[in-house]
Amino acid sequence: MDSFVIHGGRRLEGSIRVSGSKNASLPLLAAALLTDEPVTLRDVPDLADIRNMLGLLAELGCGRQSEPAPGGGVENPLTLRVTDPAKSHARYEIVRTMRASICTLGPMLAKRGQAQISMPGGCAIGDRPVDLHLRGLEALGAEVTLRGGDILAKTPPGGRLRGDTIFLGGPFGSTVLGTANVMSAATLAEGTTIIESAACEPEVVDLANLLTKMGARIFGAGSPRITIEGVERLGGADHAVIPDRIEAGTFMCAAAITNGSVTIENCPIDTLLAAVDRLAHAGVHVQTAPGADPLHATCRVTVDRVLRPIEITTQPHPGFPTDLQAQFMALLALADGNSVITERIFPERFLHVAELGRMGAHLFRAGPTVVVSGVKRLTGAPVMASDLRASASLVLAGLAAEGTTIVNRVYHLDRGYERLEQRLAPLGARIERVPESA
Ligand code: EPZ
Repeated sequence: MDSFVIHGGRRLEGSIRVSGSKNASLPLLAAALLTDEPVTLRDVPDLADIRNMLGLLAELGCGRQSEPAPGGGVENPLTLRVTDPAKSHARYEIVRTMRASICTLGPMLAKRGQAQISMPGGCAIGDRPVDLHLRGLEALGAEVTLRGGDILAKTPPGGRLRGDTIFLGGPFGSTVLGTANVMSAATLAEGTTIIESAACEPEVVDLANLLTKMGARIFGAGSPRITIEGVERLGGADHAVIPDRIEAGTFMCAAAITNGSVTIENCPIDTLLAAVDRLAHAGVHVQTAPGADPLHATCRVTVDRVLRPIEITTQPHPGFPTDLQAQFMALLALADGNSVITERIFPERFLHVAELGRMGAHLFRAGPTVVVSGVKRLTGAPVMASDLRASASLVLAGLAAEGTTIVNRVYHLDRGYERLEQRLAPLGARIERVPESA
């Protein structure tokens, strides 16, 4: 397992381009299961999670029509097509490595009439139930049973789902992949489906845009109520993935924590207003070039000499994103005072707290809340990555810390950040990847 060795204390300066969104790409790839025609996606990031999804889709009879990039990487543009719809079992061995595999359930069920997918387990950030996914698909007439750890789903006799009105809200708000699953399945259902308390995340909007290009009739994506008028069939399409808002937010924190001055290109600033609001209150300034496409903007990040403490509560979009919580905690560890961070989406998403503490951060957790008592400096140390965004938080802390930080198990990071060390180095970061064998 590779590690990162980071020599901290260097200001980041220069420009960096945001990759396509991992969390948009996964349901977009799964949407290829809804048609027999080719689906082409552009700007898909070359990440471990994407390669896992491509491997799963191949097992589900949906293969690449375009040549993989060298080393089996993700090519751009990437074209997928279903050639063997009989293969409809997403095995435990694959699903356990990437719980987002669940987003193949809705498309497979709607197009093929049946699907078998291993029930995803929990993960480092907490239990990851799928009860809302299943409830939504059952509301469309699916028969869902659990057997030997697998979800077995099939359409009612006659082979087609039926549109209905579904309330998809859970105890923590709505569900992003649950909305993707139900919205995708509803595109081929008979009649109209209304999803109340749908997720409003930009990734849901991006999926609705692809499905609409494929012939679906979807209204209200991005709002808590989405209406889908079922159609007989969907066709192929060509679609560019939106930039990754969480990667963009991570880069903003990297600029701020190193007291740097960084230009972020291809920045989906319009999806980051909550994060930019919190940064502004902390003394971090994000200036967007005028007249830019708000999903592909050029933003310049600078920071006041002293970071101010703030309050953050994670919420469903458009609230502050849970996927930036760990990164902001690293940043606020160096603020001049006490910040308060409350995690309302995944209340156990604090594996980064102990590791940041090893680097000198003063963090006090009480249930879903952490008080971040700012310190003058962090000190480098060997630390352990645990989940994707906690790993990013440790890299950020290492960039700012005095001395050397070794972040172990960076495979967690490779799931969601493309060649991060190669992209930060040109900004002045002293960061290198050390293969395990070294
Ligand atoms: C997506 O996960 C993202 N992953 C997550 O990003 C992100 O943190 C999350 O949305 C919330 O924004 C992808 O898009 C691949 P949820 P998802 O269903 O859809 C509860 C990252 O770091 N819930 O919106 O699986 C759940 O426990 C990853 O890139 C139910 O109770 O998340 C959680 O508390 C991590 N029942 C809340 O809802 C369900 O059936 C939100 O979960 C489903 C979810």
